[in-house]
Formats: sequence, structure tokens, C-alpha cells
Amino acid sequence: MSSKTVIVCVCGGIAAYKALDVVSRLKKKNYNVHVIMSKSSTEFVTPLSFQSLSQNQVICDMFEEPKAFEIQHISLAKKADLMLIVPATANVIGKIANGIADDMLSTTIMATKAPVLFAPAMNTNMYMNPIVQDNIKKLKQYGYKFIEPSSGRLACGDEGIGKLPDTEYISQVVISLLYDIKDMAGKKILVTAGPTVSPIDPVRFISNRSSGKMGYAIAEEARDRGAEVTLVSGPCDLDAPFGIKLIKVITNEEMYNAVLLEFDNSDIVIKAAAVADYKAKVYSENKIKKSENSLVLEFERDIDILKTLGERKKDQVLIGFAAESNDLLENAKKKIANKNLDYIVANDITEKDTGFSSNDNLVTILSNHGEIFKLEKMPKKAVARELFNLLNRKR
Ligand code: CTP
Repeated sequence: MSSKTVIVCVCGGIAAYKALDVVSRLKKKNYNVHVIMSKSSTEFVTPLSFQSLSQNQVICDMFEEPKAFEIQHISLAKKADLMLIVPATANVIGKIANGIADDMLSTTIMATKAPVLFAPAMNTNMYMNPIVQDNIKKLKQYGYKFIEPSSGRLACGDEGIGKLPDTEYISQVVISLLYDIKDMAGKKILVTAGPTVSPIDPVRFISNRSSGKMGYAIAEEARDRGAEVTLVSGPCDLDAPFGIKLIKVITNEEMYNAVLLEFDNSDIVIKAAAVADYKAKVYSENKIKKSENSLVLEFERDIDILKTLGERKKDQVLIGFAAESNDLLENAKKKIANKNLDYIVANDITEKDTGFSSNDNLVTILSNHGEIFKLEKMPKKAVARELFNLLNRKR
């Protein structure tokens, strides 16, 4: 049960109704949520809706009769672990950037020492107005945080930047900022995820069943713990995670090039990708036509990226993955030695409901000092958490 408190400040924009869903999502994650509404936001959504979802009295008016003896804007400002302004209008951005505190919402933002996260949403021309942009820049310099609005069709009918991002995305940013452990702050972490693809002709390829979920979970865990993360990902269906530099690749060679560019600059490198070991010896420029005979294709070895990294390694902590169907520990130990790894995360792919496209994983982590850490079956994000707990313990 999280005991953290998020103060959600709702301003008067058409996206105010989406703030209801943000509050609902945060409540489901067990945060204490208090809502402050600007006077104009109550024209769009009723305080009762926010009260029902947050299960707390909603504050709209600075001069409401206090329910207890406390100065509300100060007590909420102190209670906050994070303040989220959603949607943040040009008006509130302008007010805070210029030190104006003239209602409950703006006084509470001015009075808090907690991190403040703005989620702007407004018409494109308003958002791109240099005055608004200057105000955002100024607030960022003071340490206020912003979620970039997305682009698309706006409520007013215009197309362009200014849409409130997905409510799931907004709540993910909040959860990440409030994450308990920030032990990777200052670290540069490189993660690979997903499969690679070996093309055969313009329409055919070989690849594998990797969903990318494990690698993405690791990248997200690293980001949540404060690291600067680069994720090199093969083709997969997962959304680009926020706050992570994502480099999309297709082939082994593309992954190799992307990883090598980042490697020297990284502190920790985690290779969760399922890299193809073979590529077609001859790529056919034209589509291969069927015939009555059987088809024989020859594949040749492709680069072992992790092995190359092991050879180049200086101070980096290097972590590999091993998907095994037999002799799990023996094979994993050999790979630690062959590829000069610090750790290997080994999973038995014969286990049901774990591994490849599943949300759970059952792994054993081995170190180059012969330690063996057998984990229970757990969600991939939890496996990532355990992996970093281990790295933290060993540093
Ligand atoms: N790896 C890599 N380049 C390859 C193959 C694998 O970088 N060409 C990395 C994977 O990202 C993973 C680890 O090496 O971290 C897996 O090693 P390994 O098990 O050797 O790959 P497999 O291809 O599964 O090896 P084997 O067929 O021998 O089990």
C-alpha cells in the first residue's frame, strides 16, 4: 500500500474530463489523491466526480469554510509528495512562471516543496505562442517538470501539438517520479530488447518469438531508479516508453552498430535481446518463387554482439541473458565465461506461462563469482527490480 500523496490540480480546459481518469488510475495504484480545481475547471467537470474518485473532499475555493483548523493551501502543499497539474492551461503556466498566486490552486503550487509536474493541453497556436514557450522554459529552469503534449486533432478542430497525452502515460510518469529507489541516478544504462530479424528476400525473414517485454521492463526499471537509459530494440509491438532514448533496429548488424556507438559511454549494459545467430548467406533481391522442388536455404553465422562487448569491456557491468531448454545452470555458467559477463539471467524456456511473450518470468541470476540467485516466478517488471537490487547490493 503506497502512502504517497499526489495533489492533482485541475485547470479549466476541455481536457479537464481526462483528469478524472488520471485520478482514478492513481487511486488504483493506492496513492492518496487530493484534488484542487480552478474555478473555471468546474465549468467543465463537477467537483463531485473528482470527490467520488479521489474519496477526498475537493477544494475549489480559497475562502471555503475550513473543515478543520488548518490553512488549506499550506497543509496540502506540505502533504504533497508530488503535485500534478492536469490539464495545465496557458493561464496557470503563466501565473506560476511569474509568481502569481491568486487562488487555491496557484497558492498551493507556490507553497509546495514537492516536485511539480505540469501536463499542458491547449490549442496549438496558444501552446506555440512564444510567451507560453518562454514561461515553460523559465519554469523548467526552476526545476518544474513537464509532460510534452502530443499532436493530433484538438477539441477546437485544429490539428497540431497541444493534446493531453494518454492518461495511462501521465500516470506512468507520476509513478516513475515517485518511485522509492533512485539508486541508479547518474548512471548510463544501455539495454537491448526484442528479436532481431534476418531477411531472406523482400518479403520473407527469419526471426524469433521474443516480445521485447523483459528488455522494456528492465529499461523502465532503470529509468524509474533515476538512470539515463538507452534502449536498442528490435521489432516488437510495445509502445515507446517515456523518458528513454529508444533506438529501433531490425537486423543483428543494426543492433551491433547501435550498441557499439553507446557502449563506451555506458556504466551498465544489459542485453536482453534475442539476437539472431544466423543470417541468410545470400539475400535474394527478388522474391523467391516457388517450384516443385524442396527449398534449401543456407544460413551463415552472424555477429555475437555480447561476446564482442565482453572483449571490449572496460569498467562496464555487463549482463547477458540465456534462454535454455536444458542444463540451464551449466549452459549459463559457460556463457558467463565465454562472453566475459558479470551476470547472466538464465531462464528455462520449457517452463509454462513464463518466458517469451508472457508477462511473467522465472529466472535464475548467476554472477561471475559463482553466486546463484534463484527467483520465484514473478512479473517481468519485478524480475527487473530484483536484478537492480542485486546490482545495487554488489556495488
Ligand atoms: N547475444 C548476442 N548476439 C548474438 C546472440 C546472442 O548479443 N548473436 C546475446 C543475447 O542478447 C543474450 C545472450 O547473448 O544476452 C544470449 O547468449 P546465447 O545464449 O549465446 O545466445 P544463443 O543464441 O541463445 O546461444 P545458444 O544457441 O548457444 O544457446
